[in-house]
Amino acid sequence: TDFETILVEKGEGYGIITLNRPKALNALNLQVLKDVTTAAAELDADDSVSAIILTGAERAFAAGADIKEMQSLDFATAYKADWFAGWNRLGEVRKPIIAAVNGFALGGGCELAMMCDILLASTKAKFGQPEINLGVLPGMGGSQRLTRAIGKAKAMDLCLTGRMMDAEEAERSGLVARIVEHDELLDDAKKVAALIATKSQVASAMVKEAVNVAFETTLDQGLKYERRLFHASLATDDQKEGMAAFVEKRAPQFTHS
Ligand code: HXC
Repeated sequence: TDFETILVEKGEGYGIITLNRPKALNALNLQVLKDVTTAAAELDADDSVSAIILTGAERAFAAGADIKEMQSLDFATAYKADWFAGWNRLGEVRKPIIAAVNGFALGGGCELAMMCDILLASTKAKFGQPEINLGVLPGMGGSQRLTRAIGKAKAMDLCLTGRMMDAEEAERSGLVARIVEHDELLDDAKKVAALIATKSQVASAMVKEAVNVAFETTLDQGLKYERRLFHASLATDDQKEGMAAFVEKRAPQFTHS
């Protein structure tokens, strides 16, 4: 598929989606929503892909939802279309998504990063929920995912003041998994993706599903859910191969079955 607002490439075992509206700091309009969710679904369905990297061209990861597109948006239109709900399609992707946050991740950009599974931040990354400055509030999960990720104190601070948080603070707060040198961000993201590509796709989908359940349910239900998935993993060829390879002191050859 050809896309207007993103670039899509494939590496050994992974796909890369680059938000590519640099003149608008990769602001997220309806076309970006369509392109990203379509590309992600295509990569998700591609057996040669084990992980997806999401990053932004030039100065920004994404500086938010497109303010120029929303400026004249009215309640009835937004409500009828359930504006922003389309991004939930990204949550349906079964393969791990790595956000390589190369610059501004503000508003919808921060929310998009939080929809991903592993967040890597470059030393130049800046996170924030500046919607308050526009007379609105986060609309793609900022008040919910940010609060779960970094707690009420910092989520309130960021959402009420609209201030930006740098990569150090984001890592300290638990929003991002790692900070990497700006110039090495994409290479490091590719290394993480390539490492995931050496694993069983079945097991990695189960890991993603199980960790996400932790956000939705009680500990008791979550532990049971994890245990049942673990039991199910015993029915895969990849479990037989992974454990045989360990015992035989060789590298596993997973077939994703
Ligand atoms: C549309 C945007 C944009 C955005 C930047 N641009 N952010 N266009 N939507 N969210 C455009 C600018 O208009 C400008 O276009 C170009 O990108 C470069 O931006 P500058 O402001 O000139 O760059 P700089 O001075 O370096 O400032 C960078 C910045 C600033 C601090 C990131 O652009 C900024 O504050 N952007 C808005 C961030 C924001 O509020 N995001 C949340 C959006 S609301 P021109 O044509 O002038 O060159 C949201 C969720 C809403 O995400 C949910 C509730 C409905």
